[in-house]
This record gives sequence, structure tokens and C-alpha cells, in this order.
Amino acid sequence: MPIRIYVCTTCKTPDDPSPERAGARLFKSLHEVTQTHQSDVIIEGVECLSVCKRPCTIAFADQNKWTYIYGDFTADDSAEQILACASLYAHAADGLIPWKERPDALKKGVIARLPASLNSSRLPEAQQ
Ligand code: FES
Repeated sequence: MPIRIYVCTTCKTPDDPSPERAGARLFKSLHEVTQTHQSDVIIEGVECLSVCKRPCTIAFADQNKWTYIYGDFTADDSAEQILACASLYAHAADGLIPWKERPDALKKGVIARLPASLNSSRLPEAQQ
């Protein structure tokens, strides 16, 4: 079952001359690569992950796995590292990705990881 990579399409980076937002370009880049090379991820664009000071931002998520939020990606040359790390995430039963195995950009750019118990499908009814 594929995991999801959420990509903030509204992230913008300082001094970026492109009329298209950096996050939207990163989304397109990830989407293009996965269409031809990688089937274990679904790329989903979202408007803001509330980490606006660390553009470009993404998150890895899947049911019953830790959720990771990463930032500080460049728009045009980060896709390969993100997808390499997403593959590690997809193959980890609990979603935990050993720090030493992550590509450099995902060692430096980690913002948070959230336990799978925060996934509403796993909460007891009284807490929903
Ligand atoms: S605009 Fe990208 S995280 Fe808010």
C-alpha cells in the first residue's frame, strides 16, 4: 500500500524570481518522478502545513506509522532525496526512519515527528 507525501504548494522562498511558488514547483517535480519511477508513494498537494518559515515543506504519512514533517527543501532539486527517504519510510513497519540512513536534506530538515496514535482512526471513540 502506498504512503503519502503531502507537499505544501503555497510555500514561497525569499528572492525566488519564478512567478510560480516554490512549493508548487516541488509538487510538480515529485509528481513527475513518481509517475515514471516510483509506485510506493502518492503525492498530494496541500495549502500550508503551518511551517511557513521553513519552505519548502512536506510530510510523510501513513496509517499506523509515525508522521514526519520536513522543511528547507529547494524547489527544483530535492525530489530525488525526498523520494529516496520516502522509500525507507514506506518499508519501515512503524515509519521510523533511522537518521543515519536518511539523505542529507532529510537529516537537516526534520521539523517534527508525530506518533501514529494521533491518527484519528486509532483513537478510542471517547477521544474523537
Ligand atoms: S505556506 Fe508552506 S507551510 Fe505554510
